[in-house]
Amino acid sequence: MNVEEIKGRLADRSATVAVIGQGYVGLSVALAAAKAGLRVIGIDTNRSLIEGLADGRLVVAGVREDAFAEGIATGRMTFTTQPDGIGAADIVLLCVPTPVRDHNPDLSAVEEAGLTVGEYLSPGALVILESTTYPGTTEQVLCPQIEKGGLAAGVDFLLAYSAERIDPGNTAFTFADIPRVVGGIDPASSAVAQAFYALLVDVVHPVSSCRAAEMAKLLENTYRMVNIALVNELAMVCSDQGISPWEVIDAAATKPFGFERFLPGPGVGGHCIPIDPTYLTWQSRRDTGRPYRLVELANDINAEMPGYVVSRVAEILNEESRAVKGSKILALGVTYKPDVGDLRESAAVQVIRRLVRQDAQVTFHDPFIDEVEVDGVILHGSELTDELIADADLVAVLTPHSAFDLDHVVEVAGTVFDARNAIGAAPGVVVL
Ligand SMILES: NC(=O)c1ccc[n+]([C@@H]2O[C@H](COP(=O)([O-])OP(=O)(O)OC[C@H]3O[C@@H](n4cnc5c(N)ncnc54)[C@H](O)[C@@H]3O)[C@@H](O)[C@H]2O)c1
Repeated sequence: MNVEEIKGRLADRSATVAVIGQGYVGLSVALAAAKAGLRVIGIDTNRSLIEGLADGRLVVAGVREDAFAEGIATGRMTFTTQPDGIGAADIVLLCVPTPVRDHNPDLSAVEEAGLTVGEYLSPGALVILESTTYPGTTEQVLCPQIEKGGLAAGVDFLLAYSAERIDPGNTAFTFADIPRVVGGIDPASSAVAQAFYALLVDVVHPVSSCRAAEMAKLLENTYRMVNIALVNELAMVCSDQGISPWEVIDAAATKPFGFERFLPGPGVGGHCIPIDPTYLTWQSRRDTGRPYRLVELANDINAEMPGYVVSRVAEILNEESRAVKGSKILALGVTYKPDVGDLRESAAVQVIRRLVRQDAQVTFHDPFIDEVEVDGVILHGSELTDELIADADLVAVLTPHSAFDLDHVVEVAGTVFDARNAIGAAPGVVVL
């Protein structure tokens, strides 16, 4: 392989990039590559998604409109369901889902995409896995799939791992601001991957292997999950003692070093924080026989939170001589985090499910979501009217979108349970 050739094509921007998977991650990196001056082919098996993108419509939730408009305006992007464009690519990125199924990592999309890449890949190209996954996936799961096409890794093609780290809804950091951690199967793979990402982001941080890069991504998300568990349990411990966890966290956060502020809530949600640590604990048990105890415990604590929120709701209703059964409960916000229209693994939905199972009459309002499925039944969202608020026995603030006028909700509502401390202390408001 002539590594200098591909580096030269990156340097003079004549290189072509194929991005497999045009969801949030794949489209974001595709746009960044086009902006950097490279020709980009976005490939996805989802036909309606590809048709929308090819029409110039931003059909992927969470991607910034300005980044999309800028990328499309370069004229360097094409979108297709056909994988044969892989053959024309110097660099092939895999940005396919890595979910959990039956409590185990599900790498079927990586395996399937790897097989497709192997079928079409040209000798000398670099393949980079961007999906979040456990250490060993690039070399032990993806590589053998690609090699079924007849090319050998390290001999005929280059292979590396670099996780996407973007944060939906976070406008403080653009794509280029977030450093990239890059690990290759050999020095040549690492060098070309670094040269590629150096065109897209300001800082590239090389590590010695794909496995170190894979593990670094899991550490980042697990760090967040464990710290959220710490304050979630703090909320339960404080509640038993009549102490406000929020006051305690604010006080601790005045320390200018050694403390990072995490906040409690109804549980962890989204497609990363609740899922990625499962990859870590599963792989650790499988490959070393060693349970990653702290992470498993943190997972358990976070999983308790929707039930804890429901127990607090029951307590509040009890004070008013009401049962959960039959009470009218209005849930405000159902997505997994504020200002993002994504229901995946949403703890708010788990709270609603538990309330419905206890025969509460649950209604919800969310500016991003029209309907939520609960045990096979579709709940339709309601318009947030004063009548709806006043009619509720309890209003539960589960995901406080910035569009909510919570002061007005408090004025109109009877009792409010604020599971995120979005309102602060006020008469008629009980905080988690
Ligand atoms: N969304 C995030 O905030 C985020 C951040 C960092 C990392 N990640 C990770 O990045 C990966 C992708 O996440 P996402 O949010 O973009 O997922 P997504 O579900 O939004 O998009 C994945 C896309 O891949 C397509 N796809 C699946 N199999 C395919 C195949 N064989 N060929 C072509 N296309 C295929 C799907 O149709 C889908 O459009 C996951 O591993 C995720 O954990 C996500």
